[in-house]
Amino acid sequence: MKAFEVVRGIHWVGAVDWKVRNFHGYLTQAGTSYNAYLILDEKKVLVDAVKAGFEQEFFSRIRSVCNPADIDLIVCNHVEPDHSGALPALLRECPKAKILVSPKGEAALKRHYGEDLPLVVVKEGDTVSTGSRTLSFHPIPMVHWPDSMVTYIREDRLLLSNDAFGQHIASSERFADQLPEGQVIVEAAKYYANIVLPYSRQVKNVLGALSGLAIDIIAPSHGAIWRQDLHQILGAYTNWAEGRCSRRAVIVYDTMWGSTETLAREFAEALEAKNIPTAQLCMQGNHVSDVITEVMLSSHVLLGCPTLNGTLLPTMAAMVTYMRGLRPQHKVGMAFGSYGWAPSAQKELHQALLDMGMSCPSGPFAVNYVPAKHHLGLIPAAVEEFLELKAIGE
Ligand code: FEO
Repeated sequence: MKAFEVVRGIHWVGAVDWKVRNFHGYLTQAGTSYNAYLILDEKKVLVDAVKAGFEQEFFSRIRSVCNPADIDLIVCNHVEPDHSGALPALLRECPKAKILVSPKGEAALKRHYGEDLPLVVVKEGDTVSTGSRTLSFHPIPMVHWPDSMVTYIREDRLLLSNDAFGQHIASSERFADQLPEGQVIVEAAKYYANIVLPYSRQVKNVLGALSGLAIDIIAPSHGAIWRQDLHQILGAYTNWAEGRCSRRAVIVYDTMWGSTETLAREFAEALEAKNIPTAQLCMQGNHVSDVITEVMLSSHVLLGCPTLNGTLLPTMAAMVTYMRGLRPQHKVGMAFGSYGWAPSAQKELHQALLDMGMSCPSGPFAVNYVPAKHHLGLIPAAVEEFLELKAIGE
C-alpha cells in the first residue's frame, strides 16, 4: 500500500477501517480512518500512529516513501488507542525515534505502554525544526482527552488536528472536497455530537487559540482532510460549540402498546402546524448516535416513554444515559408518555431534561393508558406553550 502526498513532503500514511461499526457506542456506519502523517525533511517526523491491528497497512505506506528506521521523531498528539495502538510495533521499526508528547500525554502513554519509552515532553508553543519546516505544538485539552494536542506546520499553513474536525468516514479519497457534497459535514456533525459535544467549552478555547494561526489545510486523524472552504468546518464548530441550532424539534420516544406513539404523532402534527420542522425518532429503529446528532441540531426536544415496571423502557433509559453524558446545552424540553398506574417514566424523563439544563415550560404530559380525544385536544395548547420558550442558541 502506498503513501499519499498531501502537500510536497508531507504524506498520509494512515489506515482505512472499512469494517468498524462501533466506536465506543457510536454507530460508525461509514467506517473510519486512522490518519497518520509523515513529514520527510532533514528530520523525518511521523505525526500520530494507527489503531493496533492496522500495523501492516501503516508500515507498508511508510515504507513506500521512507525506511522506518530513518524516522527521527514520532509526535503523539493523543494517546487514545485508535491513534497509539500501533506504537509498540512502531518503536521496534523506528529504533532511533523519540516520541514528542504533551505533559498529560506523557503520563497516559506510560500507563498504556510502560515506563520505558523514549519520551520528550512538549508544551504550548514549543517548536521543532525539521530542516525546512517548523512544527509547533498546541495542547487542546479535552478535545478529546486531557492529553490531546495539535501540531501546526507554519511553512505549509497545515494543522494536524488529531480528533478535532474529524469524521468517521472510510474512503479511498483523502480530501473532503472529493467526497459527495454534504457527506463530510454531516459526518462531522455526527462526530461532534457523539464525541466532542461535552467539551464544547474547551472547543471554544481551542477555536480562539487557533484563530491566531494561518491555516490553509486541516488534516484530522479521522476521515477526510479539509483544504477548501475551511470556513465551513470552522463555522460549524463555532456553531456547535456555542450550542447554536435551528428552530426545529425532535421527538425521541419508544412505545409499548402504541399510546406513546399516538402522542408522539399528535405532538409532531401540532409542531408542524406551527411550521416547526420535526423529526420523530422511535428508539426501536434509531441508534442513539444518530438521535443525539438530531438533538444537537434542534432547539426543542421531546422525550416520550410509557412506564414499564415503574421506570423507563430500556431503549429510552439507554438514550437518556447517553444524552446525559453528552450534555446537549440550552434547549427547551418536554416529557410525555402513557402509564398504567403511575406516571413515573414521564416524571423520570422530565427530571432528566431538567438535569441536562433544559428549560421545561410545563410538567410531563402523561396520559393514563390510552389517549382519549380530550387528551389529544390538549396538545396544540401544550405545544404553543412549549414554543414560547426559545433555546438559547436559536
Ligand atoms: Fe480518535 Fe480520542 O481518539
